[in-house]
Amino acid sequence: MKILVLNGPNINILGIREPEIYGRQSYKDLLKMISEHAEEKSVAVEFYQSNHEGDLVDAIQKAYFDGVDGIVFNPAAYTHTSVAIADAVKGVGIPTVEVHISEVSEREAFRQVSYIRAVAVKTICGHGLAGYNEAIDFLIDHIGEKNEA
Ligand code: DQA
Repeated sequence: MKILVLNGPNINILGIREPEIYGRQSYKDLLKMISEHAEEKSVAVEFYQSNHEGDLVDAIQKAYFDGVDGIVFNPAAYTHTSVAIADAVKGVGIPTVEVHISEVSEREAFRQVSYIRAVAVKTICGHGLAGYNEAIDFLIDHIGEKNEA
């Protein structure tokens, strides 16, 4: 099983950016935590982060052609604005879990819209970095069930 962990804008500055909201661990710490978890679960993970909307669309399309089985995706601010990214997720049909580090529902009004939620198989919010590992566990079960059906 191959999972792509995809992150949008400003996730590369975790630890620097608003630590009271996103914590003090860095993007590198995040990748290490996920890599260790994926290894325990015998899942192959690939990582990609971009601050650019079109790059994220390209990465989602590439995942399709590379035979990726599932995507763990924190689209960051593009969650609230990007029809193009939502169309890409829907278009490739790869099961995608939307992850947000913070509890978005308790934040500003402009964060209450998610274009990704409707095309994701699950949304995990406010569990900090642990949400990424939960998303991997969910995808393992979800993809396993799909293959059995
Ligand atoms: C975020 C929440 C978004 O509203 C914000 O723009 C981010 C990070 C989160 O992980 O909590 O950049 O996706």
